Amino acid sequence: MAQVKRIGVLTGGGDAPGLNPAIKGLVYRAADHGIEVVGLYDGWRSLLSPLGAVLPLDRSRVRRWDRDGGTNIGSSRTNPFKAIKEGGERVDRSDEVVANVANLGLDAIVACGGEDTLGVAARLYSKGVPVVGVPKTIDKDLVGTDYSLGFDTALRNVTEVIERSRTPAGSHGWVQVVEVMGRHAGHLALWSGVAGGAHMILIPEHPFRYERIYELLKQRLGETVGKPPDRERPRYSVIVVAEGAQAEDGELVTVDDRHDAFGHARLGGIGEVLARRIMAETRYEARSVALGHPQRGGAPSPVDRIMGLMFGARAADAIARGEFGRMVSARGIAPACELSLVEITTVLGKTQTVDIERHYDTERYHLKEIGM
Ligand code: F6P
Repeated sequence: MAQVKRIGVLTGGGDAPGLNPAIKGLVYRAADHGIEVVGLYDGWRSLLSPLGAVLPLDRSRVRRWDRDGGTNIGSSRTNPFKAIKEGGERVDRSDEVVANVANLGLDAIVACGGEDTLGVAARLYSKGVPVVGVPKTIDKDLVGTDYSLGFDTALRNVTEVIERSRTPAGSHGWVQVVEVMGRHAGHLALWSGVAGGAHMILIPEHPFRYERIYELLKQRLGETVGKPPDRERPRYSVIVVAEGAQAEDGELVTVDDRHDAFGHARLGGIGEVLARRIMAETRYEARSVALGHPQRGGAPSPVDRIMGLMFGARAADAIARGEFGRMVSARGIAPACELSLVEITTVLGKTQTVDIERHYDTERYHLKEIGM
């Protein structure tokens, strides 16, 4: 195997806290191996653009990056296998990517991302590009790893908002609906709902029934509406709903009818639909809030810093040893975790969703393990 001298790193898909620590970990360990790293801007788009737009990364440049949220080298949802041509037509431009990797003098690519970004990496690997993947997504839906960067910080961010939504809801006697991201996986909604003390949590893995929600509200709130606060009974409720949750007789609620280059619709709006239904069908006053992109915002949590640094360093080791076509994988979460490499193809076409049997009470719409 020829010695690796220069590699490129890119971040694709939705940004997530933990990416910059991963880049720092990669650059530091790569330097130990005598490997130079350059940052490729805006995910796979960088390798479709005119050459030259790379950011040399060395220890002094990335020294403070472990404290930064988002990604300092930008991100996009570009899919080189379905790139958009003028007029909107989609074409396969992956050969240009392969050529540009060589033109930039890159011996390998480290791709940090979720299933889409890593899926592109896997296909490029089969076309001869040496790749190593780093798992990232606040949705925590990647198979082959217990952790993907961003989840812990998003969990913290969402829990904080759920917590804060209790005071207005309590003061006014509302049902507060909080809509949380996660696409088709309910991990973020379920665990933030538990941590934030939500009364009900609705997740994509189990279609809900409106009638059951009204019953559960009635059990909790009874006739408290418009009455003075009563120590015996709460007069508000917080319902966390995942953006991908659906009623048994309903449909996925989307922002519009557009799809990205990987075929995903933008989910959003189920929270408002639910709040309106509650107002129409019960005597309770309801409000909804959709948390949107700030869920992924802000500085990485300690877990995302540690996992990012470790993932990045492990990716550099993999490259130095010529272990390509793999993704860094964690068993357990920092600090008690073990890292290994799995075939990058492991992540393709599968989604790790909430294990309903184990964790979800389909009658109470809550975590099974605790009797809330
Ligand atoms: O995959 C991360 C995620 O934040 C999902 O939870 C969400 O559905 C999606 O990205 C939002 O997409 P965009 O960042 O393109 O608006």
